[in-house]
Amino acid sequence: MAVTSLISAAEEIRSRCNIVDVVSPLVSIKRAGSNYKGCCPFHKEKTPSFVVSEQKQIFTCFGCGKSGDVIKFIQEYYNLNFPEAVRRLAAQYGIEIDDSYERQSKKKDGYYAINKTAARFFFDAFTKHANPGYDYMKGRGIQPETIAKFGIGYADEGWQTLSDYMLAQGTQAELLTELGLSSRSSKDGRLYDKFRGRVMFPIFNTMGKVIGFGGRTIIGDAAKYLNSQESFVFEKKRNLYGLNLSKTEIQEQGYAILVEGYMDVVGLYQGGVRNVCAALGTALTPEQAQLLKRYTKKAVLCLDSDAAGIKAAIRGCDVMRAAGLDVRVMHVDDGKDPDEYIKKHGADEFRALLDKTAETDIDFKIGLIDRKYSGTDLSQSLNFLKAAANVLRPLSPVEADLYIPKVAKMRGISEGALRREIEQPSAEVPRPAPRTEQENAPQEQSVEDTPEVRGRIMVERMLIKLCLQRSDFWPKLQGRDDAFVSGEAYRIAEVLGECYRENNDFDVKAIRERLEGSALSYFDNIQEGVLTGDEETAFRDCLEKLDRRKAEQRIDEIMKILSIAEGVDEETLNKLMLELAELQRKFIK
Ligand code: UTP
Ligand code: MN
Repeated sequence: MAVTSLISAAEEIRSRCNIVDVVSPLVSIKRAGSNYKGCCPFHKEKTPSFVVSEQKQIFTCFGCGKSGDVIKFIQEYYNLNFPEAVRRLAAQYGIEIDDSYERQSKKKDGYYAINKTAARFFFDAFTKHANPGYDYMKGRGIQPETIAKFGIGYADEGWQTLSDYMLAQGTQAELLTELGLSSRSSKDGRLYDKFRGRVMFPIFNTMGKVIGFGGRTIIGDAAKYLNSQESFVFEKKRNLYGLNLSKTEIQEQGYAILVEGYMDVVGLYQGGVRNVCAALGTALTPEQAQLLKRYTKKAVLCLDSDAAGIKAAIRGCDVMRAAGLDVRVMHVDDGKDPDEYIKKHGADEFRALLDKTAETDIDFKIGLIDRKYSGTDLSQSLNFLKAAANVLRPLSPVEADLYIPKVAKMRGISEGALRREIEQPSAEVPRPAPRTEQENAPQEQSVEDTPEVRGRIMVERMLIKLCLQRSDFWPKLQGRDDAFVSGEAYRIAEVLGECYRENNDFDVKAIRERLEGSALSYFDNIQEGVLTGDEETAFRDCLEKLDRRKAEQRIDEIMKILSIAEGVDEETLNKLMLELAELQRKFIK
């Protein structure tokens, strides 16, 4: 797809443009044996030492040493950077550069803008004049700062309030229905509001864009909560409510608390427990677990203690464990959900409760089984043994060893019996293997990218991210024209260069102001990722990757140059041979 489209276009150009056709209108070259020869356009000379090979599709000057492929030639000749040269050649040869990334990001921006306008409208209705929504939330103890922080609003009971307002703003009716804000009446075709008589919770993605809404009825509607339908910008399974506000706190505290509902997030946040988020009215999905994993390796599930909550907890545990998260489960007994608990007891007691009750996912499951088969007779004990073995079986031997003595002791079973039961093949389907980092790469990247392209994109993202955190890395990238490969990254690098010249430092806000379109969304997307590990090491790794790639390309190029070097002086040949030997010694093992 598009972030990489430039590279695909470059490939296409290399395979479709004949370098001789590109060079000959610009430099006078004549056939000489199997190659073409002329006076080098890059340095002054009287005897031609500029050679173009049609067969190898490269140019080289045995005088000044400049060499490369057709794109490099255009770069050098017109003094362009890589994306500019690619665009120029693509236009000339009718090669279409896939701009779907740009188009999609523009389309998304349009949807975000509509959602934002609607959110603002609900918020104004909620805060500017008296309304039942505000009274309801006030009754629940929610303070004005919290309301502003979460952008909570009110959709009145009218059937056209929002729709009419949005249409008057010039919003297309189709977009309102697509986003699930309005529906079309089957009788007269008029638009009517989907959310009526509800307190509105805008749902933000981690980049701070409004992607959808959750609305709680205050007029006793059958559906207590109504959520926006899925849309181009709203994928429930990939987002977590509140994470836009809590992600920093989650990183700082080193773990996330996962709750069930909107009001639990709002309540805990207001109460001072701010490393909190919630799944969006669905069971926790693998995608949500991966999203969380960008910020932390540890999660505490804090679900309602009713039957539905426990069921959700069991599933949540499995999903998070499969994602590689360290999972705990905590229990709120006094008051039915975390929101009510913190209102009654405050943040300190909530944290104390967490410390006291949080147990590992395995202990939690074993505890449930223990209660389920609580009888003392033999059959109950056997059932317990079997069920406990099922829980322990998927664990690594080391982890299982931590639990076996404890579990055996609970029922006075011998450890050996438990071990033998665990070693029995399971009747259950094996759990799918955890997904790799590669598969978790940002959505924007295309599946048909080659590993080589993915690798290059990963390096450029990492470098941008590292420079934002450590502006002193930036000067070390100067002159590394191979660091960035996508058009978006080139544009970002330009802006980084400007900002660095002005301040010797980077300010994300200032950078964002200078970016637009796909470069801006690419930038936001890069910032999303969380760096783990040492920055110096990561930076060195990136440079090493670049060096290796460059060396490989140069080795390839020298081989080609050598193969077309006819009648070239000893000295030039020796120099190339030496360079080749040096590169091979350093980079080829
Ligand atoms: P709860 O019924 O536990 O609601 O649903 P709550 O969060 O405690 O809300 P209050 O305190 O009564 O206002 C938990 C979550 O399940 C989803 C919502 O995301 C809700 O926050 N839900 C619930 C729905 O999507 N639809 C519903 O009709 C009910
Ligand atoms: Mn509640």
